[in-house]
Amino acid sequence: MEKPQVNVTSAASGHGEKEEGAGGAVILFFILGLVGSLLVGWVLFPQLLYSKKRQPVDFNHDKHMELVSDGCESCHFFRPDGTYSGVPQLAQCIQCHEEPNGEDPEEVKFVEEYVKKEREVPWLVYSRQPACVFFSHAAHVKMAKMDCVTCHGPIGESTSLKVYQANRITGYSRDIWGENMLGVKRKSWDRMKMDDCAECHAGAHVNPGSVQTQKDGCFVCHK
Ligand code: HEC
Ligand code: HEC
Ligand code: HEC
Ligand code: HEC
Ligand code: HEC
Repeated sequence: MEKPQVNVTSAASGHGEKEEGAGGAVILFFILGLVGSLLVGWVLFPQLLYSKKRQPVDFNHDKHMELVSDGCESCHFFRPDGTYSGVPQLAQCIQCHEEPNGEDPEEVKFVEEYVKKEREVPWLVYSRQPACVFFSHAAHVKMAKMDCVTCHGPIGESTSLKVYQANRITGYSRDIWGENMLGVKRKSWDRMKMDDCAECHAGAHVNPGSVQTQKDGCFVCHK
């Protein structure tokens, strides 16, 4: 009868020691887990989530702005019907690029691979919205007199085209989905999701239907 009792006490004290050790291990594992998930969330996840693509040819906006006569509109202009030309076509470049002007390997590639073969450059459009979205440059640039920088950032002054990042799940460009993984928006061009369009529309008192929480307002921005 007594033997089992002794066993119970020794087992109990042994159990107590183990619990202390387990408590420390739990904290250690908690910290490791926390650090691990922060690393995954902030470092690894964005790298896995976005595939990086280089533009087919690098293009220097800053240098070209000194060469053209009509500023941005030399390449990005409104057509007579009010639609926006968007990314330039080869025809707008050929006058100056029948032959390379210099030694720049990017220009040589552009002339050899595209101009001479009469192939359009498959530019990757950072700001591309899904096909269901209707957007009009005329409403913003002509009517509301907005600056390109507000929505696109300083691409027009850049000397090199940045890497294009495509979200592997949605296919969206990172310029739409947002630079910051926590959703913090520091600059007006950091992100261009539905709420970002609607937030500015609400503040600027654009057609109240275009604030997407309103019923029937969906077709202001959706086709
Ligand atoms: C007014 C003339 C002119 C027009 C229009 C023009 N370019 Fe250029 N481009 C130049 C000159 C000159 C250089 C060489 C600059 C140097 O090497 O110092 C150049 C350089 C380049 C280069 C080498 C890298 C860089 O950007 O400096 C690329 C690529 C290029 N151009 C692409 C284009 C494309 C694409 C278009 C049409 C959307 C275009 N260019 C329109 C004159 C022009
Ligand atoms: C000589 C022609 C030329 C001139 C002048 C020019 N651009 Fe561009 N621009 C281009 C080309 C080529 C691209 C294609 C790269 C790309 O897909 O982003 C481009 C792309 C852009 C884009 C990126 C669109 C997107 O979402 O991918 C913006 C924004 C832009 N230009 C703004 C400007 C502004 C602002 C100016 C005037 C300060 C300007 N550009 C002057 C040729 C030009
Ligand atoms: C109110 C925000 C806003 C302003 C202001 C704005 N853009 Fe855009 N831009 C967009 C959006 C959104 C798209 C994508 C449209 C789409 O995919 O349907 C776009 C697309 C583009 C493209 C690529 C279009 C294509 O389909 O090839 C170019 C180039 C461009 N913008 C240049 C400019 C320039 C230059 C200015 C200034 C004159 C300007 N944008 C002003 C929001 C804006
Ligand atoms: C920084 C402010 C701002 C942002 C961002 C913005 N807009 Fe606008 N938008 C305006 C203003 C201001 C007008 C009113 C223009 C006018 O008619 O004077 C407008 C007008 C429009 C119109 C025409 C509405 C009508 O009733 O005729 C459409 C469509 C539109 N925006 C779509 C979009 C979409 C889609 C986005 C996001 C991809 C967007 N806008 C982002 C400010 C903005
Ligand atoms: C101010 C412009 C605007 C209005 C108004 C608006 N949307 Fe959107 N919507 C967008 C833009 C831009 C996107 C693409 C970016 C994104 O997914 O946030 C989008 C994306 C969506 C998507 C996801 C589509 C996809 O392919 O990923 C759905 C669903 C949607 N909108 C539904 C609605 C409904 C329902 C309403 C009306 C209650 C509405 N939207 C009103 C601008 C607008």
